Amino acid sequence: MGKPCSVDVKSENENKNKILLMISNPITNTDWINEAITTRKPGFSLEQLFYTNPEIFNLDIESVFKRYWLLAGHVSQIPKDGDYFLYNIANESVIVIRDGGEIRAHYNVCRHRGSRVLLEQTGNAQRLVCPYHGWVYKKDGSLTHCMYYSKDFKKKEYGLDPIHVRTACGLIYISFAEHPVEFDPFVRDLESHLKLYHLDQAKIAYHKSYTLSCNWKILCENFCECYHCGIAHPEYTARLMYAGVAASPSLKGKGDVIEKERSAYYSRNGLCTDLLSSNGGWNTESWYYMARAAFQPGYVSQTKDGGLVAPLLGELKGPDAGSFAFFSRPNGIMEASSDHAALLRFTPISATQSQADAYWLVRQDAVEGKDYDVERVTWLWKTTGEQDWTICVNNQAGVNSSSYRPGPYSEIELSGGVEDFIRWYLKQLRPKDAFLKTNSQSSQVIASAA
Ligand code: FES
Ligand SMILES: [Fe+2]
Repeated sequence: MGKPCSVDVKSENENKNKILLMISNPITNTDWINEAITTRKPGFSLEQLFYTNPEIFNLDIESVFKRYWLLAGHVSQIPKDGDYFLYNIANESVIVIRDGGEIRAHYNVCRHRGSRVLLEQTGNAQRLVCPYHGWVYKKDGSLTHCMYYSKDFKKKEYGLDPIHVRTACGLIYISFAEHPVEFDPFVRDLESHLKLYHLDQAKIAYHKSYTLSCNWKILCENFCECYHCGIAHPEYTARLMYAGVAASPSLKGKGDVIEKERSAYYSRNGLCTDLLSSNGGWNTESWYYMARAAFQPGYVSQTKDGGLVAPLLGELKGPDAGSFAFFSRPNGIMEASSDHAALLRFTPISATQSQADAYWLVRQDAVEGKDYDVERVTWLWKTTGEQDWTICVNNQAGVNSSSYRPGPYSEIELSGGVEDFIRWYLKQLRPKDAFLKTNSQSSQVIASAA
């Protein structure tokens, strides 16, 4: 639009020199990060910089979030052809769209000059039309229309960049990685636990999004331990046997008997009771793990009165299926009873900000007001989740202080998963690779601009 403006050669050269200086110099110096990783004291929480430093945050995105499978949503969010939602994370925006029988994911970045293509968080689009100069893409990401190019212009070279997408029991996962870690074992393990639940035929009864002033790892650490359950979650602790034992170790004998008896009951009802993970156990190597836990006597669901609040999911026969839970590092968590499931998705925003999305699933044919009431379905995880958000934000506030230094994990945190999570996390950090990638991208920009 408008006539070409005159070029300020001096400021253009200054800018170019500044960029070249940045590339040739400090960004490759990742020694301080390597030092922080290698000098971490085992069994202690991390140094402050892991929770506050923007460069570490960028490294987390490159080394963790762009390498693993990320929980993006549920198939019921996009039931019809052309339905889509956006998943925004750090600088990225991903279009997750239904294209006939397929679910596809594309970077939400126009291949003309880079505008976001879709701006609404959810919607239906039979064609993806860039709002800047009108380039038009099909749902499969291919470019079909752009004005003012010669007949020789190779449209097929300018499709939207694809992102890996898979589903497991109705949950949609994406991966930015060129070669993602294996997803099939996760599908297999989740199906062995949830095959009777038919979560692919569930719907979202309620969704709530929270913006939290804390680093994403503070959320993950919190969800790896039940040391805090007795203090922070009286409602959850009263319902889950393992949480009750964590809060009152004197209950261990009784708890073991109940867990064993219930586990045999679940097995007789065709429910898997194994602890499953990507590495055969609960350890540092696993990017996911899942297990089934028993309720306290008098409870069969994660509800206020302990009874069911919605029709049984899928083809479950009895009301007590225990509480099935999984954690897929770094951002997906589920706790499912026989009548509903609570799904949590964590999304990093900055070093000291995250988003937590909570979704509650019930069977698709259940009618609100008749078969279930949203308040009753959401009660436990709304209560428990909001308690967690508060303690995590308080945790970050203290970590920000000049007085903070790493503190020792208790036995329950060491055995329950926090130490495993931290070791897994530190193993992922590859400052050199991540910053080399940043450099090579910058170099390409300079090369084509020169
Ligand atoms: S940036 Fe999308 S059409 Fe120009
Ligand atoms: Fe908690």
